Amino acid sequence: MIDRKVIITGVPGVGKTTVVNGALKKLREEGVEYQSINFGTFMFEVAKNDNIVKDRDEMRSLDRSVQKRLQQRAGQAIAQISGNVLIDTHASVKTPKGYLAGLPEWVLREIMPDTIVLVETDDDQILMRRMTDETRTRDREGSRSIAEHQQFNRSIAAAYAMMTGCTIKIITNADFLLDRASADLADVLR
Ligand code: AP5
Repeated sequence: MIDRKVIITGVPGVGKTTVVNGALKKLREEGVEYQSINFGTFMFEVAKNDNIVKDRDEMRSLDRSVQKRLQQRAGQAIAQISGNVLIDTHASVKTPKGYLAGLPEWVLREIMPDTIVLVETDDDQILMRRMTDETRTRDREGSRSIAEHQQFNRSIAAAYAMMTGCTIKIITNADFLLDRASADLADVLR
């Protein structure tokens, strides 16, 4: 099989990491291996070493030029990884100064994904998941604002498809239907 690069995105709290873990478990049982990479972790390691931030949720508020530099370094490092790779990241990041493209041209050119997955669910479900997740410092915003972010992500994903020729897959991760979402992602990765 030719090595594949798949990018998975979704607004914070939609549950993309949970869906990824479920899909990779299913695939491992079938002997299909993917290396799972978190883009934010690559950025955070650089930011931490440079003493810029103490936790990953602070990165969204950094100056745009600093976030761009961190993105570029993460993109270059991830591009060196061979084999099937699944990259957990964001189509766009909500910063105090507006939406920042998560996969600008200089990152996409390095990675050249086969598919970009958008994980979505109802805005009020995302709101509840953020409120009950005590492990993170989630942005406080209403469901209308979450809806706007999900809509923006669809729009920017269309631009990414135009730039790279990749496919865009939308997966719904609804309450009580996590298994369905993981199975849908496994189908994309097989
Ligand atoms: P990152 O770590 O990717 O942040 P995140 O969006 O908060 O992602 P998580 O890993 O927490 O995943 P998730 O919120 O989708 O879901 P989870 O599985 O935890 O990135 C950190 C930072 O890095 C970003 O803020 C940004 O600054 C930076 N960054 C990253 N990529 C970037 C890029 N390309 N450019 C610029 N900056 C970038 O689940 C959430 C909750 O929901 C859990 O409690 C879970 O139990 C629950 N849940 C999940 N599924 C279900 C379900 N079906 N039913 C009920 N509950 C569910």
